Amino acid sequence: MKNILVFSASPRKGGNTDLLADAFISGAKEEGASVVKIRLIELKYSPCIECGGCDDTGVCVLKDDLTPIYSKIEWADVVVVASPMFFYNITAGCQALVERSQAFWVRQYLLKQGKIGGKRRDGIFLSCGATKGKLLFEGSLRVMRYFFDAIGGNLVAALLVRGAEKKGQIKEIPGALDRADSLGRCVAKSGDFGSLEGIWTPGGEKR
Ligand SMILES: Cc1cc2nc3c(=O)[nH]c(=O)nc-3n(C[C@H](O)[C@H](O)[C@H](O)COP(=O)(O)O)c2cc1C
Repeated sequence: MKNILVFSASPRKGGNTDLLADAFISGAKEEGASVVKIRLIELKYSPCIECGGCDDTGVCVLKDDLTPIYSKIEWADVVVVASPMFFYNITAGCQALVERSQAFWVRQYLLKQGKIGGKRRDGIFLSCGATKGKLLFEGSLRVMRYFFDAIGGNLVAALLVRGAEKKGQIKEIPGALDRADSLGRCVAKSGDFGSLEGIWTPGGEKR
C-alpha cells in the first residue's frame, strides 16, 4: 500500500487546485492508498529564516505547525503539491514549505545521510492558472523539481491547467479532473506511471 501526502496550497477551499487534489485522492483511495491531505492555509508556520541551524543536524530549529510535517514527508512514498499560480508562481505558503525543506537538503547533501526516510519518493505537481500564457508554469516546475529532489524524490508527473479562474471552473475543462483521478489510481496501484508520466495539459502539450 502506498503512503501519499498531499499538500493543498490554495487559500481557496474547494477551489480549482483543491478539486484537482481531491480527484487525485479519490482515485488513490479507490486503489487502497493511505492518504494524508494537508491544507497549508490552515497551518501557522514561518518561511526559512536562514539561521543555518539545520546545517549541523539536518533538523529545522523552528518549532511551528510544519514541525510534525517532516515526519509525514519521511512516511510518504508519494508527495503531491497542488498549488494555483499566483503571479506566475506557487502560493507564498507553498514557497515557505519549499524553503523549509532545506533541512532535508542538508541531510542528503551536506550530512550525506542518504535518502530521506531511506527511500526515494515520487513527486507530483497539480496546478492551474487563469491565463493561457505559454510560460505560466515554467518557473514553478523548476521549483518543484528542486523541492522534490530536496525531499528525496523526483518530479514524475505534472498536471497543468490553463484558463481556470473562477472557483470550480476546472470542472468545465475537459480531462482535467479525470486525469487527476487517473494519476491517483495509477500511483496507488502500481507506482508505474506509464503514459501518465511527464507533463500534461488539457488539449495538448505532453512532454
Ligand atoms: C493573488 C493572485 C495572483 C494570481 N496570479 C495569477 C497569474 O500570475 N497567472 C494566472 O494565470 N493566474 C493567476 N491568478 C489566478 C489563479 O491562478 C486562478 O484563479 C486559479 O484558478 C486559482 O486556483 P484555486 O481555486 O485553486 O485557488 C492569480 C490569482 C490570485 C488570487
